[in-house]
Amino acid sequence: MKPIERIMPSISYIVARSNPGGVIGCENQLPWRLKTDMKFFRSVTENHVVIMGRKTLESLGRPLPKRVNIVLSSKKGVDTENLLWADSKEMALYLADFISILKESSQIIVIGGAQIYGLFRDLFTKIYLTEVFHNFEKGDAYFAEQFDMREWNSIENRDYKKSEFDEFDFSISILERKIKYTRHRKLEDFFVAESMDQTRERIEEFREKFRRTKQLDERQILLPLLVA
Ligand SMILES: NC(=O)c1ccc[n+]([C@@H]2O[C@H](COP(=O)([O-])OP(=O)(O)OC[C@H]3O[C@@H](n4cnc5c(N)ncnc54)[C@H](OP(=O)(O)O)[C@@H]3O)[C@@H](O)[C@H]2O)c1
Repeated sequence: MKPIERIMPSISYIVARSNPGGVIGCENQLPWRLKTDMKFFRSVTENHVVIMGRKTLESLGRPLPKRVNIVLSSKKGVDTENLLWADSKEMALYLADFISILKESSQIIVIGGAQIYGLFRDLFTKIYLTEVFHNFEKGDAYFAEQFDMREWNSIENRDYKKSEFDEFDFSISILERKIKYTRHRKLEDFFVAESMDQTRERIEEFREKFRRTKQLDERQILLPLLVA
């Protein structure tokens, strides 16, 4: 029998960096106060699964509410309802796929820091990019990715002026890869014994969602063919 397979959620980045310099952090903190950008960050990430590094979790001080937080670390922390620990990139993706399918969310968002942006750089297909127009002399974490506009579409770009809420001028752009590759997994991939420790309790609910959303995917793929 043909295995049941479906498209996995896409991976997006959300990053705020200085321009010039590409600084994203200093002494495990953000080097700026931008209230408007924080609001934007919340609106993009809420209700999605977010992936971050252990140091970023420490800089936030707590898992982000209204989001499932997957944290990468070589050490195993204690899982809670909205915080799951992963000790490898593969485990983080496995958990992010599993939870996103349960939540019927089609986008996983990588929120940093520098090490974690490096880890998923071949996989992200969209970026919410804030550029803070200030030259910071001090910085110890960077996001230096350059975007070749032959490969990326700019789908939004807005400028913001320094104000009582925002310490510096900044812009927010949204870029999408022109060629969107997709990741696929088979239902059986989620039943591998060593991966199931953190998912066992919800596996039946998951199985149901996986089957249902697979049918939705097929309809989405068929639609343009019917129109043509
Ligand atoms: N401006 C922005 O948009 C933004 C966003 C996020 C963060 N930041 C800033 O970025 C800085 C933090 O970035 P960072 O690069 O130092 O740290 P990070 O990426 O947040 O976390 C690094 C940690 O992640 C874990 N890790 C990394 N690769 C792993 C792998 N393959 N498998 C398992 N665990 C792995 C390790 O944890 P263990 O050491 O526990 O093993 C490592 O020490 C802070 O200054 C923060 O404020 C800025």
